[in-house]
Amino acid sequence: MSLVRCDNTEAWGALQAHYEAKGRRFDLRTAFAADAGRFDRFALQAPGVFADLSKNRWDASTRALLTGLAAECGLEARRDAMLAGEPINLTEGRAVLHTALRTPTDAKSLGVVTDAAVAEVHAVLEPLLAYAERVRTQAGTQFTDVLNIGIGGSDLGPQMAVIALEEFRHPKLRFHFVSNVDGHDIAPVLARLDPKTTLVIVASKTFTTQETLANANVARDWFTANGGTDVATHFVGVTTNIEAAAKFGITSTFGFWDWVGGRYSLWSAIGLSLAIAIGADGFRQFLAGAHAMDEHFRTTPLAHNLPVQLALIDVWYRNFHGFTSRSVAPYHQGLRRLPAYLQQLEMESNGKRVDLDGHAVPFATSPVVWGEPGTNGQHAYFQMLHQGTDVVPVEFIAIKTPAAGHDGLYADLHTKLLANCLAQSQALMQGKAPAEAALESPPTASRTIAREVIAEHRGFPGNRPSTTLVLDALTPRTLGALIALYEHRVFCSGALWGVNSFDQWGVELGKALCNALLPRFETGATDGLDASTAGLLTRLRAQ
Ligand code: F6P
Repeated sequence: MSLVRCDNTEAWGALQAHYEAKGRRFDLRTAFAADAGRFDRFALQAPGVFADLSKNRWDASTRALLTGLAAECGLEARRDAMLAGEPINLTEGRAVLHTALRTPTDAKSLGVVTDAAVAEVHAVLEPLLAYAERVRTQAGTQFTDVLNIGIGGSDLGPQMAVIALEEFRHPKLRFHFVSNVDGHDIAPVLARLDPKTTLVIVASKTFTTQETLANANVARDWFTANGGTDVATHFVGVTTNIEAAAKFGITSTFGFWDWVGGRYSLWSAIGLSLAIAIGADGFRQFLAGAHAMDEHFRTTPLAHNLPVQLALIDVWYRNFHGFTSRSVAPYHQGLRRLPAYLQQLEMESNGKRVDLDGHAVPFATSPVVWGEPGTNGQHAYFQMLHQGTDVVPVEFIAIKTPAAGHDGLYADLHTKLLANCLAQSQALMQGKAPAEAALESPPTASRTIAREVIAEHRGFPGNRPSTTLVLDALTPRTLGALIALYEHRVFCSGALWGVNSFDQWGVELGKALCNALLPRFETGATDGLDASTAGLLTRLRAQ
């Protein structure tokens, strides 16, 4: 499979010329005024997710050039190689097969490797779901609380999804997620739990992660110190390293495979807390939603392929417009952990500076991804989005129908929420000229300042781009589709940039230095340390 790095294509040069000629001065207001069909022209429907791409700074020619870029880079071949189980994670010598985790057994064959992976997946999935159902039948009696101990991909995905799917959760079970190696995280959680009715899931792909093992030790000590007796029933492991889990004393374990990246593992046994929360049928729906998005990604031509088109806009903004970040604004409180989840997915995947051949890339890669649920963000940092010096493309996520029970007393809130969502993307695009602002009466306190000065402060530049994703409702199926959409989008931008989206060597140095520093907290030795680290160690060390 030949992959051409984006800057080694003819399309790249053509895009540069296009940016200089048109892109740099592109004005969304003019574009909408000139084309009554712009909304429809830039709308895409993928399974479970509708996307309005019209408020982006592009036109049909930009889109055609970008789509040409994807074709010239060999994106389709790269996608097919991933789906066929080729070892595209070169630096770790692994296949990348999280899609196999949601492939039904009767799906079309995608080759020997993938078919074998799918068979292995179902050999674990069925017992996993049966176990989840057993826990649910004991909800409220044997089990009242489920505590997931894990970090990174072993925390962010299940936590985000369990929160998002609150409406579908078992009413007699409470869910807790502990990740940080900080007593301030685990202590208040344990203080609320009864060991006799708590199920602890120790989730770690490698079962070597310092934070997770330290917290698991604390949980086990708490369990035995508070009358817990049956570790085998109350502790379950989820890992690819069953041996290490057994050494830790966990006999009940669900496995997965090294071809599942940590940040892509929500669909595997790492999703156990979610499976317990929403049940076997709910989890199957979640997988089915993701599989439908996989099929969209696999079979839809590049020009109509939603993950591809979103990645192309990302490349357009990052590499041509020079925008450094993207803000995600889910207008649904249930999606409040989505930005954190996406930070790992996008920045751990594509925060890379060398290509597959080890050459430093001469262009920017992953943007900073950040955000908060709407409308909260509006009353905090949206000021900067509207009037700051940086242009930050915003991704709005709107859910048409609220959860069941959000009628009556709450019905009005949802309409207000959606109106806010639309108003923000409208305001970002439309802006407001100072001349228009000058017609408004200044606030009383400002009557001493010249009207024009106030008008400048009250003006909005506008032309600030956004994408709006719309889900009909937040269900296991649509959430599965949404997450798979993001995974494939990250794959596409990583492939165009020619980086390995599936390793994470950047987290290793800090881990090694931490291990080297730990004994110094005992001894106080600072020899060989830089002056800053030495000074801080001395200051922080408990005497
Ligand atoms: O340190 C980064 C990382 O390896 C992530 O990629 C991963 O999701 C997280 O740590 C947790 O790893 P594990 O599941 O092996 O404990």
